Amino acid sequence: MKKSLLIVAFLLVAVTPFCQNAERFVNDLLSNMTLDEKIGQLNQYNGDWGATGKITPEGDKEQQIKQGKVGSMLNVTGVETVRKLQALALQSRLKIPLIFGQDVIHGFRTTFPIPLGEAASWDLSLMEKSARIAATEAAAYGINWTFAPMVDIARDPRWGRVMEGAGEDTYFGSQVAQARVKGFQGQGLGAVDAVMACAKHFAAYGAAVGGRDYNSVDMSLRQLNETYLPPFQAAVNAGVATLMSSFNDINGIPATANSYILREKLKKEWHFNGFVVSDWGSIGEMIRHGYAKDGYEAALKAITAGTDMDMESRCYRDHLKQLVADGKVPVSLINEAVKRILLKKYELGLFSDPYRFCNDERQARQVNNQENRRFAREDGEKSIVLLKNDPVNGRPLLPLFPNNQTIAFIGPFVKATVANHGFWAISFPDDSTRIVSQFEGLRNQLDASSTLLYAEGCHVNDNDESGFAEAVRVASQADIVILSLGEAPDMSGEAKSRSNLRLPGVQEALLETVSAVGKPVVLLLNAGRPLIFNWASEHVPSILYTWWLGTEAGNSIADVLVGTCNPSGKLPMSFPRTEGQIPLYYNHYSTGRPAKDDDDKFYVSAYIDLPNSPEYPFGYGLSYTTFDVAKLQLSSDRMPIQGGRLNVSVEVKNTGNYDGEEVVQLYIRDLVGCVVRPVRELKGFKKIFLRKGEVQTVSFALTPNDLKFFNNDLQYINEPGTYEVFVGHSSLASLKGTFELIK
Ligand code: BGC
Repeated sequence: MKKSLLIVAFLLVAVTPFCQNAERFVNDLLSNMTLDEKIGQLNQYNGDWGATGKITPEGDKEQQIKQGKVGSMLNVTGVETVRKLQALALQSRLKIPLIFGQDVIHGFRTTFPIPLGEAASWDLSLMEKSARIAATEAAAYGINWTFAPMVDIARDPRWGRVMEGAGEDTYFGSQVAQARVKGFQGQGLGAVDAVMACAKHFAAYGAAVGGRDYNSVDMSLRQLNETYLPPFQAAVNAGVATLMSSFNDINGIPATANSYILREKLKKEWHFNGFVVSDWGSIGEMIRHGYAKDGYEAALKAITAGTDMDMESRCYRDHLKQLVADGKVPVSLINEAVKRILLKKYELGLFSDPYRFCNDERQARQVNNQENRRFAREDGEKSIVLLKNDPVNGRPLLPLFPNNQTIAFIGPFVKATVANHGFWAISFPDDSTRIVSQFEGLRNQLDASSTLLYAEGCHVNDNDESGFAEAVRVASQADIVILSLGEAPDMSGEAKSRSNLRLPGVQEALLETVSAVGKPVVLLLNAGRPLIFNWASEHVPSILYTWWLGTEAGNSIADVLVGTCNPSGKLPMSFPRTEGQIPLYYNHYSTGRPAKDDDDKFYVSAYIDLPNSPEYPFGYGLSYTTFDVAKLQLSSDRMPIQGGRLNVSVEVKNTGNYDGEEVVQLYIRDLVGCVVRPVRELKGFKKIFLRKGEVQTVSFALTPNDLKFFNNDLQYINEPGTYEVFVGHSSLASLKGTFELIK
């Protein structure tokens, strides 16, 4: 206690003068800036990589940087290029350095599992560490700002961008948001290996109608506050430097000009002191939204609502000056936005050394960093979810025996290298030689007495079945068949909505054809979202969901196949049985006619042609061992709203034959509320390691804060009443206790 007080006191003493100096410096600078120079700081241009919209032409850009008309660049990578552009900025009258931003979404030179896949590890320190490494590598390449983490809650797997987030749950998503922000920003923005994080896309982007990217969102403010905003608030509490507004409208007002979320919630209520960047061109897109007549009106609406920086729409550049001249925008509004940006430049240390992120030696060290690759392998292993592992001939098929086996490895992804990155990775020319394929990964783990055969079988997404015969031939020679199927990496991500979530092309036909050979089959599913694969769920004994795991995918997958790593991932999204079930999420509201079980069809809320449950529920995932969760104990059956605290404990036993990790999950249910409450809500989870036969007590602390919700007046309240608590392996946890929240 004393020690922590001392640390706080030290931080106050150390940080306060820093803030005062920053304030003073920025105020001085601001007072010397012309209106043109101020507007320049609010303007961001694209560099030479990965445009996701229209861009400003080269020559123009360089001139404008020299004239101080650009505050930041995105998609500029590498010390040499960054240095060149920074030198142009330093030729401007006030020599204000540029900030360099990039989508460093799941790693940089070393790529990690796509964020949704990594979320399946339920391991927050792992996620923090991968963000830390990504930041270190990117910062060494001159980047000082990443447009990550994406913290959008996503309950619709048709939406391609589910791959970038942490899935469907607000509590879980908030924890992950914090871990990732901490990872990117490390010891704080002054450190040379820290990059500014950017929580995006503010807000409710994941709730777009029909899962169609960029689409509208119409929802109650209560729902917005309760489900979609908390991960952003969590990111702000973790000190996130920036936020990005989203493309969608919320209840008719585009997020880019939505003063409710940007001013009222973010800047006023949450005291956010960083800055907000628009999404690509989204200020200008308000014209096509039909929310602004022209660029002039779009700029007016965006700056008024609180969007500080304009990414590539050029509306601020072209219209803010006139808006000030016309008395529509007070200079104070511009000053506020500029100040927010300059403060971050100061915190990044760019004023004292604009080239501090440009160091050739540091950059060279990241090119193929073995330590980072070792971590990526572990990250990949822990992100894999074992969905099924039925016995074949009296024994579960996995893990494989590594010796005296003939294994057929079949499918379009088996020998792929770069594809293992998944979407939103920055490709480098040497990637294909650095990335281990799934085939090589497995071959390296088998001993000389085993044979690994290969057939491509089919392509990812066409109707060509000419490879089936070879696949059947190879399968016939094998003791066991592994099929690596799924959607291509670029079938998820931005603008990658899908209406059909089945395996594309003829992959399912290949699976059925090869299965008919009669050899035991293990299925690997590579994907950026929950796919639908009912036939496989019913007929294939072992299924591993491998997402896209990054640079070390081949090795991570092999480690799990042969059992040097026991899988421990759990699904961060519910997996539907058909597209018709979407949206599907475990924490839906209680209806007046809930179905009792999958077969209950008597005037209940259910589909008559489907079981009511998902194919695989939220929080679900198996292990090579088994765990028993028992002896639920509550420290009391009452918790006072004032200062209350309840301890919930269970005993977890590893009852199987392998050491392993289990994610113990705690859910609550508020039985009666002034508004209808969800049937379950995750409120705690712990990932523990247990040796074979070992027993551990796992405890969770619940406080009234965990039970708060938004009422219809948008007040965040505690309400006395009865609560149920469930603890177990997934959102189906059945061990139950009850307590009263009392006044
Ligand atoms: C995406 C953002 C991304 C930006 C810059 C946009 O199209 O929506 O998530 O950060 O492009 O690449």
